[in-house]
Amino acid sequence: MIIQYKFPEDFWWGSATSATQIEGAAHEGGKGKNIWDYWYEIEPNRFFENVGPATTSDFYHRFKDDIKLMKEIGHNSFRLSISWSRLIPGGRGEINQEAVTFYNNVINELLANDIEPFVTLYHFDMPLELQNEGGWESRNVVEAYKEYAIQCFQLFGDRVKKWFTFNEPIVPVEGGYLYDFHYPNIVDFKKAAQVAYHTILAHAKAIEAFRTFNFADSKIGIVLNLTPTYPRSQNPFDVKAANICDLFFNRSFLDPAVLGEYPKELVEILREHGQLPVVGKGDLELIKQNTVDILGVNYYQPRRVKAKEYLPNPYSPFMPDWFFDYYEMPGRKMNPYRGWEIYEKGIYDIMINLKENYGNIECFISENGMGVQDEERFLKDGRIEDDYRIEFIKGHLKWLHKSIQEGCNVKGYHLWTFMDNWSWSNAYKNRYGFISVDLKTQKRTPKKSAYWFKTVVENNGF
Ligand code: BG6
Repeated sequence: MIIQYKFPEDFWWGSATSATQIEGAAHEGGKGKNIWDYWYEIEPNRFFENVGPATTSDFYHRFKDDIKLMKEIGHNSFRLSISWSRLIPGGRGEINQEAVTFYNNVINELLANDIEPFVTLYHFDMPLELQNEGGWESRNVVEAYKEYAIQCFQLFGDRVKKWFTFNEPIVPVEGGYLYDFHYPNIVDFKKAAQVAYHTILAHAKAIEAFRTFNFADSKIGIVLNLTPTYPRSQNPFDVKAANICDLFFNRSFLDPAVLGEYPKELVEILREHGQLPVVGKGDLELIKQNTVDILGVNYYQPRRVKAKEYLPNPYSPFMPDWFFDYYEMPGRKMNPYRGWEIYEKGIYDIMINLKENYGNIECFISENGMGVQDEERFLKDGRIEDDYRIEFIKGHLKWLHKSIQEGCNVKGYHLWTFMDNWSWSNAYKNRYGFISVDLKTQKRTPKKSAYWFKTVVENNGF
């Protein structure tokens, strides 16, 4: 077989997931409640077909078999997250020993199968008690997170060598404080800015603590959804709109995490509109000193914008979209189920930007994937023939390969996700996995893409 796209030696091939989306056992094993358990209790209608996080894909009980399957389809690495409310019910204080046993078992099982665990500390799942104290609006919660991170490093740092403080930290800001798709469903930009700022502060504090451990060969970073922003045209008004959009949604986390500083233009906009967060003494120096070793990049879709058509309503809440309108480019390729554009070159553009403007920081694709509704339509002889997913991955890998050829510091590719999992308010509407999960029986069946991926890993390319 001719391999046209060969990847560097020791490339990380695998997939990613998060605790709340696969573990299940939400009310077992001594776990406390998180915001998802609670939001589902009070508003089950906000979740597709009223399916909540209680059971999800039952990884808590089936992890051994699942890891065996991971091995079978060629994984050499896998990103999971620790559930804060499982490890420390209530968010502070006593460690839940059942959780320690569970995460130890998972980590050891992965290592026994030569799969490197990449661990995220926070993937959208605030312990309920801490949310009741104000969640990321509260500086006390920042301290609680730091203590939680220290416990994780102490308990698992001897074996886990890649740590990620947060997954897509902008998403809880957007969902919980601007656009009403995460609990606590607040619409208030000033609070959103405080939440975003405290998240970066918590991240820097965790990095500072991590470095005191002096683990050999360990790295710490963050996972960001670096949705590239494209202007409708090169008209200066469109370009300006795209730059501002980029400041709000990408550079608000990328700059402090990698460069140690907030973009001045963003600070200026917030100052002008009276939306700056409260910053403590010494915070900015701490952020400056504790930049990441490694960056996870999640890429699903581009963002296309144009100059605003109309002035914003002065009697509406201040929003990032006061500065731009979204633009539907004629002829764009869509994933109609998720409603997201598919634009493979975006992955290349992100990498070139990291190379040129962010010191060519070591990075990898920590998520990329395609959620499809009613996948049973593609069942043939008991297996889902997901050729569309294979095409999707190939398309992105080709551009990723090109970026590597041009000197970008890309170390791996993880698909979202290993097996079908619970997608927050979309629950099980769109399926993303290499492995399908029958929700009634919890039976796992590899899809066609799983076998294809195995050959890609074996050949280190395609
Ligand atoms: C990323 C998240 O935003 O995309 C995942 O890190 C999420 O948690 C994934 O599941 C796919 O998005 P969605 O909304 O379709 O689940």
